[in-house]
Amino acid sequence: MSTTPHIITHRPRRNRVNAWTRNLVREHTLSTHDLVWPLFVIDGKGEEESIPSMPGVLRGSIDKTIEKAKQARDLGIPALALFPVIDKGLKTPDGKEATNPDNLICRAIAEIKAAVPDIGLIADVALDPFTSHGHDGLVDDTGYILNDETVDILCQQALVQAQAGVDIIAPSDMMDGRVGAIRDTLDSHSLTRTSIMAYSAKYASAFYGPFRDAVQSGGLLKGDKKTYQMDPANSDEALREVALDIEEGADMVMVKPGLPYLDIIRRVKDEFCVPTFAYHVSGEYAMAKAAAANGWLDGDAIIMEMLLSFKRAGADGILTYAALDVAKTLNN
Ligand code: PBG
Repeated sequence: MSTTPHIITHRPRRNRVNAWTRNLVREHTLSTHDLVWPLFVIDGKGEEESIPSMPGVLRGSIDKTIEKAKQARDLGIPALALFPVIDKGLKTPDGKEATNPDNLICRAIAEIKAAVPDIGLIADVALDPFTSHGHDGLVDDTGYILNDETVDILCQQALVQAQAGVDIIAPSDMMDGRVGAIRDTLDSHSLTRTSIMAYSAKYASAFYGPFRDAVQSGGLLKGDKKTYQMDPANSDEALREVALDIEEGADMVMVKPGLPYLDIIRRVKDEFCVPTFAYHVSGEYAMAKAAAANGWLDGDAIIMEMLLSFKRAGADGILTYAALDVAKTLNN
């Protein structure tokens, strides 16, 4: 019995069959210039500490962080995001160490900027590394996280960091109105060249666990952050948050976490056409590393695929703990 020949009009595989055709038709690429490397800074000299839930990530003293900054610069990574790990004795209910112009993060900013002037520095604005209860803001007697009182402190925190020389202030606290208030504070101190990257759509996510281990806030945290961080069920609300931050003066916006929120990145990019960042957060990184350590997945390959997916979703840049390794791979 003879088979009837099929006439197949469309053969999409033609574009996939050679490496060169795939290169030719590729829509999105990941480059070293897309990467921001988050780093945890500790006090001391020559100090490094591993973080069990973040394999391969080391907290480092300022001198060690300067070495990392040089490596990053030499590979073409445009910016670092700095997070201080504060001595437990300095953590208070009001997190006032955040506004000390001589605190760890301000010293780190000034020293890294002096040693490596040509890499961008981003600093978080939120109180959680500094509070004894692990929340991003002030807490009242009922457990409510106070908004406007917190915003006042965040403005002072942003001011000392900007005066220390940080290039980009990144409010990650999710209080209402903080972007506008911080912009006013910076401008009224002639800091008009300091940018704001707003954590605009930051969800109350279970993916931040390893980060809280890294800054040692997790064990202290009473309750959760659901009264200020966004409900993972919402998508329209992310667009309203982003619209407000842009109106209040954000230069760049961020969606966080990354991988479970690719739909949000796409909606934000389509709607606002502003510089849009994805945070490939600690839990996403930890999952990849854990599966790789078990031999279940190829860790390097899945991280590359994840980061490319952020670009495909519309992100201009990505904060990732894998930035250095990825930059080395991309430069080869
Ligand atoms: C603090 C902050 C968090 C992260 C960045 N800034 C944690 C949180 O909100 O509890 C998470 C980053 C990560 O998980 O990699 N406001």
